[in-house]
This record gives sequence, C-alpha cells and structure tokens, in this order.
Amino acid sequence: MTKLAIIGGTGLDEIPDLEITHREVCHTPFGEPSAALTHGSISGHEVVFLPRHGASHMIPPHLVNYRANLWALRHVGIQTILGVAAVGGIGSEMAPGRIVIPDQIIDYTFGREHTIFDNDLSHVTHIDFTMPYCKKLRQDLIEAGRLSGVNPVAGGTYGATQGPRLETAAEITRMERDGCDLVGMTGMPEAALAREFNLCYASCAVISNWAAGKSEGSISMGDIEKNLIKGMDHVKSLLVELLRIRAK
Ligand code: HPA
Repeated sequence: MTKLAIIGGTGLDEIPDLEITHREVCHTPFGEPSAALTHGSISGHEVVFLPRHGASHMIPPHLVNYRANLWALRHVGIQTILGVAAVGGIGSEMAPGRIVIPDQIIDYTFGREHTIFDNDLSHVTHIDFTMPYCKKLRQDLIEAGRLSGVNPVAGGTYGATQGPRLETAAEITRMERDGCDLVGMTGMPEAALAREFNLCYASCAVISNWAAGKSEGSISMGDIEKNLIKGMDHVKSLLVELLRIRAK
C-alpha cells in the first residue's frame, strides 16, 4: 500500500501523534507549497503531512497555492491524499462536531489558479469529474469511521466558497436550494487539481459551526474553535483506523 498524505486544514496545522522523521522543502513549477513536507509515521504507518494554511496558519483559503501543494506531494511519490477541512453545516444532520465524508462538490470559488492545464499544452485536457472524490479512499474512510466509533456522515455535497469572509444567510439559503449540505473555503480547487494530477483524493470534513442563518445570532470564532477541538479528536481516531485498514 502506498504512503498516505494528509493535507491539514484549520485546527489541524500539526498532528500531535505524528512521529516526525524529517522535513522536506520543495520548490515547484507553480511556486512554493504552503510549508515544507513533514515525513513521519502515525502508529507505525508512514505518512506525509502538509498544513494547507502554512506552518503557523498564515495563508488564507483564497491564497493557498493548491497547485504547488499537490505538485510537491506527487513529486515525493504520493498517490493518495486525504484533505481534512473545517466546514459549516447546512443540512439538518450536519451538526457542529460531526465528521462528514462528502461525495459531491459545487464550486462557488473564483479567481483561483484552478488547473494545471493552462500553459504549454500539447492537447486540451478535460478531466472527468462526475464523481469528484476517490471512491476507494472514501470507502476506507467510511469503514474507518465505523470501526473507530466516529460514525461520520457518509456523504454530502460540499459547497466551496471563496472566503475569507463567512457567508450571508441568503447565500446559505441559495446554497441549500442548490443542494449543498456543507460549506467550506478550501475544497476547491484542491479536489479538481488532485484529479488533474491523477491522484486519489478524498475529503474528511469537520463541522465547526452551523452555517450562516442556521442558528440564532452570529457565528463566533470561539465556538468554531471549541467544536474543532472536539472534531479533530474524531479525525485523529479515524486516521489511526484508516492507516490500519490501508496497511492490510
Ligand atoms: N463557511 C465557510 N467555511 C467555513 C465555515 C463556514 O461557515 N466554517 C468553517 N469553514
């Protein structure tokens, strides 16, 4: 089984259980990745970790160099990537603290470098993106969620917004009408670029808050952080099980 890479989002800028062997700085044709790649192991299973927002969480979602991050991981031989991301919950099942393994995406982002097929093309390439996430990794994540007792929601449509501001209540109502169950700012173009790079990519979304207008009052950063701490504990349990499944 090939090594898993984990791209960590808000609340997962580092993995405490990761035994680090070394860090590797990569320069890519697309510029600099968010941070050096951290090589190490979790419960004896080798992984590579990359914090999406940088080692000290300084890069906002719209400025993440998604192309460089994926290029760097591919360059060190990674074929499978788990993207962990904080999200707001839209659907009634999507309560703060829960984990979701989404199966669909609607992209509302704009102005991001969203493709590697825009320069020096020998031919025009249109990836198939009907099912945006890697089927096998999603299945393993759902099984790992069951075995670890985390019981993630096994599907849902991720609406990717531009950020860095949160949405208005009307925007969330529109997204709900569109069929979105979750809202986050980093799911795209990460998933599409992974497909362009021919990588197996799936997302593990951690619900940090009810999306705008889905609860009383405004969204507080304090509540987001509190829910993320709980959610990330679930992610870590799920991760250990996932690595065990993949090693079989
Ligand atoms: N909206 C967009 N992105 C998010 C949210 C949200 O409510 N919560 C965490 N990431």
